[in-house]
Amino acid sequence: MSPFDVSRTLPENATGAALRADVLHGLTATPKTLPPKWFYDARGSELFERITELPEYYPTRAEREILRTRGGEIAAAAGARTLVELGSGSSEKTRHLLDALTGVEVYLPVDVSESALTGAGRALVAERPGLRVHALIADFTASLTLPGTPGPRLVAFLGGTVGNLLPAERAVFLASVRALLSPGDALLLGTDLVKDEGVLVRAYDDTAGVTAAFNKNVLLVVNRELGADFDPDAFDHVALWDAEREWIEMRLRSRTAQTVKLPALDLAVDFAAGEELRTEVSAKFREDGVRGELAAAGLDLAHWWTDREGRFALSLSVAR
Ligand code: AVJ
Repeated sequence: MSPFDVSRTLPENATGAALRADVLHGLTATPKTLPPKWFYDARGSELFERITELPEYYPTRAEREILRTRGGEIAAAAGARTLVELGSGSSEKTRHLLDALTGVEVYLPVDVSESALTGAGRALVAERPGLRVHALIADFTASLTLPGTPGPRLVAFLGGTVGNLLPAERAVFLASVRALLSPGDALLLGTDLVKDEGVLVRAYDDTAGVTAAFNKNVLLVVNRELGADFDPDAFDHVALWDAEREWIEMRLRSRTAQTVKLPALDLAVDFAAGEELRTEVSAKFREDGVRGELAAAGLDLAHWWTDREGRFALSLSVAR
């Protein structure tokens, strides 16, 4: 067997069908919404990479600090022979983790982007003789099955992306992760933490306007994929903190009354002047909340590590 192989659980046309369904549902709802997963075409992924380098956007650096300083503790606590990474993308952060997880024999990156998976997988096996990489093209928010790999397994879900799921979706997701695990297997989860409102809002509304461009990119994705005629300049980027639900929301606010046509859906959507379309929720967490959500899914919180400034956490929980 080659040290690198790829398998696919997503039909080639699944993305198109899912996008159509999400856009039809979201743009005919009140208030209007679009799910954040559609930000990430090639341009959106590039804009996100630029976000992670912005002075205002601390989560990526904070998480990297924890992986760097706590890698040994994570490795000892998990004792994993297989590392599964959900939403691995370029597998960049994984290098720090793989450096620390000396007992890992198999790395299983899971992502919807075939190009990111293939590039990262080939590079990793070239760098690390002895490591087997089995890339899985799959949507981790849908149901997942993993190939048989040696246990114990560690599933890593980094970057705070769990915060992009709504609470009910999170409960379903965590239960489905638990279902992949055997008792004693572990989940390493990255969560951004509740903090000063100004710090949070600036992280999602940077002065260089990169996050605004990222937010509007979803309109370009819908234009390209569904033949729509969104004018990104006709919308303003909005980032706001919902103190009750403890999440950041990104929205696009229509500057004027306008009608957008979506020929592929045989749909025309009216926006009132000032009407807002929600494009992302990014929940911020507290330790007790994370412990409770994990416990409800059958996962017992065993370790909680934060960066020095207490902005971001990595938790390790163990399947009951
Ligand atoms: C890293 C995907 C979780 O919610 O912070 C960055 C995406 N959105 N800026 C986040 C994002 C706006 C991000 N995730």
